[in-house]
Amino acid sequence: MTKQPALLITGGAGFIGSNFIHYYLSEHADASIVNIDKLTYAGNQTNLSGIEDDQRYHWVHGDIADEKVVSDVFKKFDIQGVVHFAAESHVDKSIANAKPFIISNVLGTGTLLEAARQDWEEKGMLDKRRFHYISTDEVYGSLGKEGTFNEQSPYNPSNPYSATKAGANMLVKSYFTTYGMNVVLSSCSNNYGPRQHKEKLIPTIIRKALALDPIPIYGTGENVRDWLYVEDHCRAIDRIFHDGATGQIYNVGGRNEQTNLKLAKLICEALDEIKPDLTAHADIHHFSELITFVEDRPGHDLRYAVDDSKIRNKLGWKPSVSFEEGLRRTVEWYVNQPGKVVQ
Ligand SMILES: NC(=O)c1ccc[n+]([C@@H]2O[C@H](COP(=O)([O-])OP(=O)(O)OC[C@H]3O[C@@H](n4cnc5c(N)ncnc54)[C@H](O)[C@@H]3O)[C@@H](O)[C@H]2O)c1
Repeated sequence: MTKQPALLITGGAGFIGSNFIHYYLSEHADASIVNIDKLTYAGNQTNLSGIEDDQRYHWVHGDIADEKVVSDVFKKFDIQGVVHFAAESHVDKSIANAKPFIISNVLGTGTLLEAARQDWEEKGMLDKRRFHYISTDEVYGSLGKEGTFNEQSPYNPSNPYSATKAGANMLVKSYFTTYGMNVVLSSCSNNYGPRQHKEKLIPTIIRKALALDPIPIYGTGENVRDWLYVEDHCRAIDRIFHDGATGQIYNVGGRNEQTNLKLAKLICEALDEIKPDLTAHADIHHFSELITFVEDRPGHDLRYAVDDSKIRNKLGWKPSVSFEEGLRRTVEWYVNQPGKVVQ
C-alpha cells in the first residue's frame, strides 16, 4: 500500500507549533501534515480548533522520546521532512526539575533524528529530506548591555532548559557531520502572540491585569529580551525549511529589544484602552499600578539579542508585523479568550 506523504510537525499543540500549523496549511494548499504531540500541561488541542476536520491534517497523540511511537509514525506515513518544535519550554520549571527537559529535549530529539535517519537512509533520501530543529537564542547565554550573538557564537547556556536546547543543537548538527543528513537549525528570540501557555510572561501580565491581581516582574524588571511576533517566526521557519543551506543555523530575531518592565507597561497601556471598564470601579486608575517586583529567578540572564543578518541577507526574510500592531493583536486575542487566560 502506498503511504501518504506528509510533513511531520512535533509539538504542534503548543504555542509556536500550533501557530505554524495554522500558517502552513493556509499558505500551502497542497500540504499534508502529521502532528505528534504528547499533550503535556503545555499542549492544548483547542490551539488547533478549526483544522481538526481538514483532510490535510493528521493527529498523533504520542511522546517523541518513545522509540516505538516515533517509528510507527514513519511506518504509517511517508515522512518528507520534519519540523521539530516539541520541547519542555519553561525555564522556571527546568530549574525546579530538569529531568523532563533532559528526556523530551535531548532524548526526544535523538529519537526523532534516529527514526528519520533510518527511514530516509533506506529510501536513499538522507541528504534530500530535511530535518529542521527549532532552537532558541537562549543557547548562547547572557549578554551585557551591548552586542549581539551571531551563528558562530559559542553556546553558553545558563539554565537546564537552555542547556538541553544547546545539547539538542549539537546532536542535530552531528547528524549532518556524521551521516550527511540534511539538517537545518534556527535559533529564535522570544515569541509573542496568540495561543501561548498562560504561564509565560506576556499571558501572565495580561491574566493578572484582567484579574486585577499584582503583576509579578522579576528583580528590577531590567532584563532585556528581543520580541518577535509568532507569525513572523512561522514565516522564517517556512523560508529556512525550504531554502536554508544544509547543515546551517539561522538566527531569527525581531530587532525589538524591550526590558521586562517596559513590556509590562506597554501591555498595561493597551489594556487601559481595551478594558477601561475593569479599572473604572477599582482602586486603581491604570493597570500599570498593579506591577509588583518579585524575587529574581536564579541564573536570570540579563539580556539576549541575536544578529539576524544571515537570514535577512541570504533568505530575504524580515519581520512584517510591527511591535505595536503585534502587541495590540495579542492583547485583544487574550482579552477575548477569558476562559483560557484568567483563572
Ligand atoms: N516560545 C518562545 O518564545 C520560543 C523562542 C525560541 C524557541 N522556542 C522553541 O520553540 C519550540 C516550541 O516552543 P513553544 O513556546 O511553542 O512551547 P510550548 O511549551 O508552548 O509547546 C511545546 C509542545 O510540545 C509538546 N511536547 C513536550 N514534550 C513532548 C514530548 N516528549 N513528545 C511530544 N510532544 C511534547 C507539548 O505538549 C506542547 O504542545 C520549543 O522547542 C522552544 O524551545 C520557543
